[in-house]
Amino acid sequence: MLADKHKSEIKAILKKYPAKEKRSAVMPLLFLAQREYGHITPAALVEVAELLELDPTEVGSLIGFYTLLHDEAAGKYRIQICTDLPCALRGAEELAKRLCANLGIRLGGTMTNGLITVEEVMCLAGCDKAPTLQVQDADGIHYHENQTLGSAMELIAELMEKGSDG
Ligand code: FES
Repeated sequence: MLADKHKSEIKAILKKYPAKEKRSAVMPLLFLAQREYGHITPAALVEVAELLELDPTEVGSLIGFYTLLHDEAAGKYRIQICTDLPCALRGAEELAKRLCANLGIRLGGTMTNGLITVEEVMCLAGCDKAPTLQVQDADGIHYHENQTLGSAMELIAELMEKGSDG
C-alpha cells in the first residue's frame, strides 16, 4: 500500500493543504501512485480516494481527464506524439505510423521489452516546432520538437539503452 511505503511523503503532501481542503492533494497523490506502480492501479485509486475522503468515481474521472495520468500499464517510457492539426499538417500522423511500424507495435502499444509505449496525444503547445512529441517517464516529461523519423528513432535508441541499464 502507498501509505505503508510512502508514509512520510504522503504526510508532507497532505500538510501542504488545509485539513478541510485535503481533496486538493488529489493530483500529487495520484502522481505518487503513478510513480510507484507505473500507472494508477484500481487499488491505488481507492487508497487515494480513502486518504482524501473522496468517492473513488470522482478520483477516477480525473484519471480519465488528464493525459498525464494513466490507469493502464505501459512501457517505462511513454512516447507521446502530438497528432493535432498543426503537427498533422507537418506529418505527425505519418511519423507515428512509421515509428510504430519500425518498432513492431501498434499505436498505443508497448514493445515486448516493456520499455517503450507509443501513443498519440492532443496539442503539446509546441505547434510552431511541429511535429512535437514528449517522453513521459519516472523523472517527468521531456519535450522533443521538430521531430523526424530519424530523430525519433535515435531518441528511442537512447531510451532503450538507458532503460536496459536498470
Ligand atoms: S498541434 Fe502539435 S504541439 Fe500543438
